[in-house]
Amino acid sequence: MSDTKPFLDQRVMDLVNTYILSNANPETKVAHHLPPEKLRSQIDLTLPENGCSLDELYKTIEQYLTFSVRTGHRQFFNQLWSGFTLPGLLGELFASLANTSMYTYEVAPVATLMEKELIKKLGGICGFENPEGLFVTGGSNGNLQAMMIARNRALPHVKSKGYSNAAELIAFVSEEAHYSFEKSANVLGLGSTNLRKIKTDDTGRMIPEELAMAIEESLEKGKQPFFVGATAGTTVKGAFDPLEDIAPIAKQHDLWFHVDGALGGTVILSPRHRHLLEGLDKADSFAWNAHKLMGLPLMCSILLVREKGHLWKTNSVSGTDYIFHDESYGAYDLGPISLQCGRRVDALKLWLSWKYYGDKGYTERVDRFFELAAYAEDIVNHAPSLELMAPRSSVNVCFRYVPNTSEDIDKFNLRLREELARKGKALVNFARLGEDVAIRLVIANHELTREDVSLFFDSLIQTAESLT
Ligand SMILES: Cc1ncc(COP(=O)(O)O)c(C=O)c1O
Repeated sequence: MSDTKPFLDQRVMDLVNTYILSNANPETKVAHHLPPEKLRSQIDLTLPENGCSLDELYKTIEQYLTFSVRTGHRQFFNQLWSGFTLPGLLGELFASLANTSMYTYEVAPVATLMEKELIKKLGGICGFENPEGLFVTGGSNGNLQAMMIARNRALPHVKSKGYSNAAELIAFVSEEAHYSFEKSANVLGLGSTNLRKIKTDDTGRMIPEELAMAIEESLEKGKQPFFVGATAGTTVKGAFDPLEDIAPIAKQHDLWFHVDGALGGTVILSPRHRHLLEGLDKADSFAWNAHKLMGLPLMCSILLVREKGHLWKTNSVSGTDYIFHDESYGAYDLGPISLQCGRRVDALKLWLSWKYYGDKGYTERVDRFFELAAYAEDIVNHAPSLELMAPRSSVNVCFRYVPNTSEDIDKFNLRLREELARKGKALVNFARLGEDVAIRLVIANHELTREDVSLFFDSLIQTAESLT
């Protein structure tokens, strides 16, 4: 190990640019999947007593890129995110270069002001008049913190005295809600049976009448309802719960009304599609993942709260005077309202990206996603061998291939997906809709074109035919 100063050399630019360019090449494999033992034999993973040279390090970085899944490839549809914006990448790089933490204005002055500006902007778009908020570690964490605020509101003494003599709390989400709510119920000591999962209709939207009945039922059982979590963009079907109808039910029972917009929050940036989030202005809190449809490098998540004060009430603790000093710019510090101590600068990449594309750029992006998802749905509807498995609400298209053999249809679709991945042609996920396996195509990469979507289905059908 010879270098002491971490200067970047031309190799970094070459590696980055070659990687980005080859993502765009349809000949490039999406993934080089190897079983763990084989992969282990390709890369020297041991950590030595004496450090290695920079050359060796670059060699390992190349191997890292070679064997990592190309999530920015235009045939990567496996998650609810894909690709990244260049300003987002720059934000990630320069946030690491300046390497600070979001707890005080003193150590993160620009980032603090940027984060506050973004919260104001996002809050305004959601119809929150006096919003507060924070960048959090992910949508799961946003959901957890929203539930924690709701719990502390329902049981004002829980923060100091715990659950002693408290009524049994119960929260409500839909049966299609993300699993992070169950984790939240676990972390907060509610118990998973006190997370009531409300029935959905065939599009995947929570049925408000079922919610109202479940609340009444739990009251009859002596429980204390405290939280309703609606979803704007469900994980599998991309469905939007009817916020406008759920809001009055939550209000009638004085429950905290949270909206999980981890996937679909970004849709509010499109005048054409924001009706899907009608009623959001009545929510008490909103979780939003900018690393999904806004195309920022992971992670980039925000928790917004409609009224100021809740985050401080929930997250403030004693023993902080070593770090938060009223004498300097304490009023600007974000640390006291955060659950974390050290916190990454995730605001910079979103701020840079929004500055670069503007509102208009993001509106166009959302509209293009919907247009491409409709195009994909159309292909499914017109291909005799494909079957749509759920009505499409937004950017998720759930379908399956119907083989003309006697093979079990679920097993065939799992085999098909594996084969596509093994060949490196496309990576696409699956989920179970009831008993059935459905392939879940997600349109989330801003570089996608109709040709890419067609190529995906061509590869899928060709591969399926080769398997029958
Ligand atoms: C609807 C929904 N909520 C929450 C989450 C969790 O987000 P994160 O992975 O950022 O924790 C996801 C993840 O895909 C999601 O789909």
